[in-house]
Amino acid sequence: MLKSAYVEEVFTLRAGDRVELLGWVRNVRQHGKLVFLDLRDSTGVVQVTVKTGVADEEAVKTASTLGREASVKVVGRVVEDRRAPGGREILCERLEVVGRAYGEYPIKPGVGPRFLYDNRHLYLRSPKVSAIMKIRSAMVEAARRWFIEHGFTEIHCPTFITAAVEGGATLFEVNYFGRKAYLTQSVQFYQEAAIYGLEKVFSIQPSFRAEKSKTRRHLTEFWHIEAEMAFTELPELLETVEQLISYMVVETVEKRKREFTELGRRFNVEVVEPPFERIKYEEALNILESKGVTISWGEDLGADEERILTEQFDKPFFVTHYPKEAKAFYHMPDPSNPRVTLSADLLAPKGYGEIVGGGQRIHDYKLLIQRIEEENLNPQDYRWYLDLRKYGTIPHSGFGLGVERLLQWILNLRNIRSACLFPRTRQRIYP
Ligand code: 4AD
Ligand code: MG
Repeated sequence: MLKSAYVEEVFTLRAGDRVELLGWVRNVRQHGKLVFLDLRDSTGVVQVTVKTGVADEEAVKTASTLGREASVKVVGRVVEDRRAPGGREILCERLEVVGRAYGEYPIKPGVGPRFLYDNRHLYLRSPKVSAIMKIRSAMVEAARRWFIEHGFTEIHCPTFITAAVEGGATLFEVNYFGRKAYLTQSVQFYQEAAIYGLEKVFSIQPSFRAEKSKTRRHLTEFWHIEAEMAFTELPELLETVEQLISYMVVETVEKRKREFTELGRRFNVEVVEPPFERIKYEEALNILESKGVTISWGEDLGADEERILTEQFDKPFFVTHYPKEAKAFYHMPDPSNPRVTLSADLLAPKGYGEIVGGGQRIHDYKLLIQRIEEENLNPQDYRWYLDLRKYGTIPHSGFGLGVERLLQWILNLRNIRSACLFPRTRQRIYP
């Protein structure tokens, strides 16, 4: 079954041209002996008119009995019609049913968001979800292109692991043939091993977090774009992140103009023009205090603090030098003030919050052991990770970017779930 034309082409063909379309019926309206079908495919919707004289009686009868979401093949001519959406329609000459729709299609106007997520497998047919998925695809493609053009090698890391990367609280435990294993929260440690051979690496794969709280920006499974760079310290890392984010967003907005319009979303690309402001954790606390929010030194910025802080900014900005208490053990202490680390988060403005987390890693063997012990972790669990510091260690840095977080921000999605094909949250693992 070879597809000869897509719906979007109907709007560029000449009137009178004959096309063969394959797609799904969104809607059927009958006016006497005239039947109007809204035919949808992956590229859009077009009106198809089925009437006797042009098509045979049988086709008109078939059209009038089609249920919503039946799949059909339509052969007909393109005609101009100012009343039709887009100014074009198809005058049907032949109609074939590919797959009937049995029963009433459950996705109807007025159903609530919960119902739509329970029926996500069907709701994926909506043009809105398709637009989001096309934008997401363009975004990931842009990231991959940027990395390749900048000399990074793409690597694929394991998902089963034996020791936490980002702390024990959000680990998913799995039974690995009777042994305890976990689903990874980040491929960072494997990337750190890989840079000794490849120097600059990136990965695009899922990460898992047993996030217990119910928020609008936490998933239990999310897609993580991570990168690690040899011979790199914090300032170069920040430049890398701002260049990448800027490129990804500008490319996506350019390539997917139509989908942004369909979603009624505008994104002003000046917002992602580098450089992004850099403020230290300490300054962030001062800004918060001036807004009446006091957190004690050493505490991480929570969702509420991030919201209030980011409301003061119009562009993404870095918060750097978090206290070591607020970050995982592997973060490099600042040599000029060891109470803080050479860490950085990128926060999206206007109430949004963190989209990237990263920093410079400890590359000194003894210091790393000390930090592992200070955090009450067992150095035995990190044997291979420690080995990396034993043989030709180097300063290095890296970061992780949440695909859904970035998408949620640029599309202004109320909930991060909308950025996923099949979202995984504490409450949802079906469908
Ligand atoms: O800040 P995080 O926890 O950093 C790391 O995992 C580092 N090991 C990454 C690295 O340096 N290679 O996570 C990085 C990013 C966050 O900024 C956020 O965008 C996303 O991953 N993220 C989540 N996205 C959705 N749901 C969750 N539960 C997320 N947790 C983190
Ligand atoms: Mg983080």
